[in-house]
Amino acid sequence: MDIILLGPPGAGKGTQANLLVENHGMRQLSTGDMLRAAVKAETPVGLQAKAVMERGELVSDEIVSALIDAELTAMGEDVGAIFDGYPRTEAQAVALDDLLARHGRKLDHVIELAVDEEALVERITGRFTCADCGEGYHDRFKQPAKEGTCDKCGSTSFKRRPDDNEETVRTRMAEYRAKTAPILPHYEKAGIVNRVDGMAEIGNVTTAIEKVLRG
Ligand code: AP5
Ligand code: MG
Repeated sequence: MDIILLGPPGAGKGTQANLLVENHGMRQLSTGDMLRAAVKAETPVGLQAKAVMERGELVSDEIVSALIDAELTAMGEDVGAIFDGYPRTEAQAVALDDLLARHGRKLDHVIELAVDEEALVERITGRFTCADCGEGYHDRFKQPAKEGTCDKCGSTSFKRRPDDNEETVRTRMAEYRAKTAPILPHYEKAGIVNRVDGMAEIGNVTTAIEKVLRG
């Protein structure tokens, strides 16, 4: 089963994708994570993407679609894909249709996480992750059980994303409204869009998504 998690920055795409990976053995394909890895490794793609991401603007359609193509080539057809943060433009939605056909895959659901944008600024600016295993935390909503120690791997080193400041978040939201939200009709035509309340508690959002997946 292949699904898209669609929603503005901070809607909970990564949080929910991680839970689906744990509970259903699906594979998370996050173009944001792929780009951050490329920036860290200083690959040609990373060098091109770094400043664009720091401004909160979108990286080129060609770059992100090539990243997804490479991931789909590497993974088995029987493993379900969770597209997290892709597609983000009409051109990417068209490219994904083509990629799915070429890789013999079919999109089952687009899950739109419906959220209140103002609350998202607090969610994003409070977010941090374990520098070693990547487990996600939040200053207010999800502190490690033991202060300063990762629940999952015991590391004491944490990091914050350079694009998680208020100014950049506002640009990322404007990009979502202008370029990403308009791709919804592409999928509404196919009758596969499901709206889930992304303002509910994390566990309740997961329950609502799982209900959609069960059909
Ligand atoms: P990307 O990494 O995709 O970032 P984003 O879309 O801005 O979304 P986020 O990762 O910030 O939020 P999320 O929805 O995953 O929320 P999370 O689960 O972390 O993209 C970054 C950049 O890369 C882009 O700006 C662009 O430059 C580039 N890029 C990436 N893909 C691209 C593409 N396809 N085309 C072009 N450019 C691309 O949750 C946020 C916080 O809230 C966490 O702390 C979490 O614990 C908390 N939280 C989550 N759910 C809840 C809840 N229900 N209640 C309370 N707290 C919650
Ligand atoms: Mg994310």
